[in-house]
Order: sequence, then structure tokens, then C-alpha cells
Amino acid sequence: MISLSWASKKRCTSYFVPTSTITLTVSFKLRHSKLFQMGSVRFLGAALVTGASQGIGKAIAIRLASDGYRVALNDISRKREQLEAVAKDLNQRHGAYTSVVIPADVTREEEVEEMVSYSSKELDGLDVMVANAGIIGPTKPITELSMEEWEQVQQVNLRGVFMCYKWAAKHMIAQGRRGRIIGASSMGGKQGAPNLSSYIAAKFGVRGLTQAAGKDFNKDQASRYDLSVALELGIYGITVNAYAPAQSILADPSSAKQVLATLPSFAKVGQPEDVASIVSYLASKEAHHITGQTISVNAGMYFD
Ligand SMILES: NC(=O)c1ccc[n+]([C@@H]2O[C@H](COP(=O)([O-])OP(=O)(O)OC[C@H]3O[C@@H](n4cnc5c(N)ncnc54)[C@H](O)[C@@H]3O)[C@@H](O)[C@H]2O)c1
Repeated sequence: MISLSWASKKRCTSYFVPTSTITLTVSFKLRHSKLFQMGSVRFLGAALVTGASQGIGKAIAIRLASDGYRVALNDISRKREQLEAVAKDLNQRHGAYTSVVIPADVTREEEVEEMVSYSSKELDGLDVMVANAGIIGPTKPITELSMEEWEQVQQVNLRGVFMCYKWAAKHMIAQGRRGRIIGASSMGGKQGAPNLSSYIAAKFGVRGLTQAAGKDFNKDQASRYDLSVALELGIYGITVNAYAPAQSILADPSSAKQVLATLPSFAKVGQPEDVASIVSYLASKEAHHITGQTISVNAGMYFD
């Protein structure tokens, strides 16, 4: 039934036939089955990962695809080739419809809106949003940081995450099939560090945003609080959490020795896959009782 719908949808795109009946068929099936079947491959749902061309985002995309999700891969447009290489690999390993590439700049609202809506159209919905894209920005004392430098980091690391949360939430609410929203904070979102003031402030901001968005009010309270709870998604069955890696997570093997020196003696250097595994859990049905949390992944470098 569904594989037929997918084939029809492809034909519809070419021949300009309205797709609404097809979407309805797919949505009905999704609500009534645990796994979403496409051709001979069964999918658990649809995920969108930003900053997925490398590092932690790439590891998350790979993990979610191996968990059974179809995955939309986002990064800035100049990373398109890297994104396409990841998509090709996922489609070879898990089936031709596993992955799509959606370059977009998460600092631009119209691009985020379009990214979410395109992803949802291509993957037949959105169940998991991972707002992973981030930059470190300049490392300099606050007295030397220009407003442009401050803004650049805020734009990607906080405003970008906010817009991904917002547009994913709008889609998930309209879809009415619950959802998982997950953002990138940092150990720097729990404890300050020198020469990184904008990064630290943005990552603390992601923690606050995650709490506000994940907080559950009952419907009576929600109507009384109105605007102040506009992003509070618990009542829709949407959980909102963040991950907080430390520099113990290594994407670049050449700095292993330096990183190891900062860790407790028992610890090993972590890998992007160590963050991907917590995201995999937060995305799962089992994690329904966890929301508003920012989970540390830091080999014991810092305790809340
Ligand atoms: N690696 C760590 O140890 C560590 C520690 C704490 C927090 N984090 C956070 O985890 C996330 C991933 O870290 P990483 O080490 O994989 O970083 P990374 O630099 O390897 O990857 C980040 C990706 O985000 C993309 N990106 C940047 N600006 C973007 C924009 N405007 N729109 C779309 N994509 C954009 C980049 O192109 C890049 O591919 C980041 O938010 C980072 O702050 C990482």
C-alpha cells in the first residue's frame, strides 16, 4: 500500500497531480503501524539533522539511519558534496529512500522553514529534529570581542537552534503524531570557560530554550499563560532535550594526546558516536519520560 503511494507520489510530482490523497494514505498508515514501509524497506520515522556533513552531526545521522529512520541531512550549501557522500553511503547501506540532502543556512528563518517543510514532504513527516549545527567562533577575551563576532556565534548556536525548534514544533503539532526535538548544547552550556563568551552564552541559552520548550503545562494553565508558553510542547507529546558534550569528544584524531590530558585518569577520549548514542536514546519511544534535560557526555569532566 505504502510502496504504491510512494511510487504514485513520484509520478505525481512529474505530472502535477495533487498529492493530498497520497499524503493522507501515508499519514493513515503511519498512525496505524509502528514501522513505515517503503518498498521492501521498513522505516521507523523521519529525522532531520543539521550540520550533518561531518563530526557529531554526521555520526548522529548515521546512527539514526541504522536505528531505522529516514534521515534528511542539512549543512551549509558549500558542504553539499560532503552531504551527498553521507547520503549515498546511507542509501547504499539502508535502502534507496533512506536519506535526502537539504543544504540550508540555519541562521535564516525562511531557509529553516523551507528545510523543515521540504524534509517533511520528502520523508513523509518529521518525527525527530536534531538541531546540531554550531560554530565555536573566535577565541578571545570579552574586552576584544566585536559585536559582529558576538552576533555571528549567537546567530548559529542559539538563533539557529531556536528556529529549528520552532519550525519542527509547528510541523509536529500539525502532524499530530508526537515527536522528539533535540539540540546541541555543550559542557560550555553548564560551566563558563575563558575566551569563549559568546559560545558559552549561546550554549547556556540552548539549555534554557530546551527547558522552556520541553516544559509541560496542563491545557488550562497553557491558556492562562498564553504567549509565555507558546513553545511548551509537552502537551503535544513532544519531548525536547539537548546534549552537552565536552572537548572530551574528538572529531580530529591529531589532538588526542592533548584532549586525554584534560580527562580523569580512567577516561578514554570520546568519539562523535558517543554523542550519537545518547541522541538515539532520546529519539526513541523509551525516552518519553525525559524532557527539558541537557544530558552531559563528558567522561566525568564536569558534574551538574
Ligand atoms: N565536538 C565537541 O567536542 C563538542 C563539544 C561541545 C559541543 N559541541 C557542539 O556539538 C555540535 C557539533 O559539533 P562538531 O564538533 O561536530 O562540530 P563541527 O564543526 O565538526 O560540525 C558542525 C557543522 O555545523 C555546520 N554549520 C555551521 N554553521 C551552519 C549554518 N549556519 N547552517 C547549517 N549548518 C551549519 C558546519 O558546516 C559543520 O559541518 C555543535 O553545535 C557544537 O557546538 C561539540
